Amino acid sequence: MITLRPYSPNDHRQILAILKESGMGPYENWDDLDNYASIVKLDNENILVAQDDAEIIGVVLLTFFGSKVAWIFRLAVKEAYREKGIGSKLIEEAEKIVRKKGVKELGLYANASNMKLQSFYKKRKYKTFGKEYIYMWKLM
Ligand SMILES: CC(C)(COP(=O)(O)OP(=O)(O)OC[C@H]1O[C@@H](n2cnc3c(N)ncnc32)[C@H](O)[C@@H]1OP(=O)(O)O)[C@@H](O)C(=O)NCCC(=O)NCCS
Repeated sequence: MITLRPYSPNDHRQILAILKESGMGPYENWDDLDNYASIVKLDNENILVAQDDAEIIGVVLLTFFGSKVAWIFRLAVKEAYREKGIGSKLIEEAEKIVRKKGVKELGLYANASNMKLQSFYKKRKYKTFGKEYIYMWKLM
């Protein structure tokens, strides 16, 4: 049976494998075990996983910009489980969590050339702003 629940550190290895097959890193610092620990320390609902029996099959992560804006990161479903409604369930649950907190806007960065992904979000009433962004960073 497929269930959604808050992340636990035991899920980490399987999540990294899903991110890898989804072409989303995993990235140093961002996806480190201790970084995820600090995210769930703020609220254990900030990272949700989808589970089928003992297998982790999907993930979504929430971060916050003040009290009014939240960001979705790392929405990913294990390849073999895609197109079965799991990504939709993860998004719906993430939306429920941010609404409960009184957050006014939920956003994300999507690859501008991934039209399938854009229509996935548009169908779920997400609007688009901007055409091209690059990420810039410096290690501290
Ligand atoms: C996007 C993703 C999470 C959807 O998960 P899912 O469990 O397949 O989602 P659902 O079964 O609920 O819905 C399937 C939807 O994905 C769309 N889809 C199919 N292939 C896709 C792809 N390669 N990338 C994005 N969306 C895709 C389908 O068109 C369908 O959209 P619709 O319901 O609007 O018709 C999943 O395709 C994935 O993990 N992609 C790789 C990681 C990624 O790009 N994440 C988003 C980062 S912002």
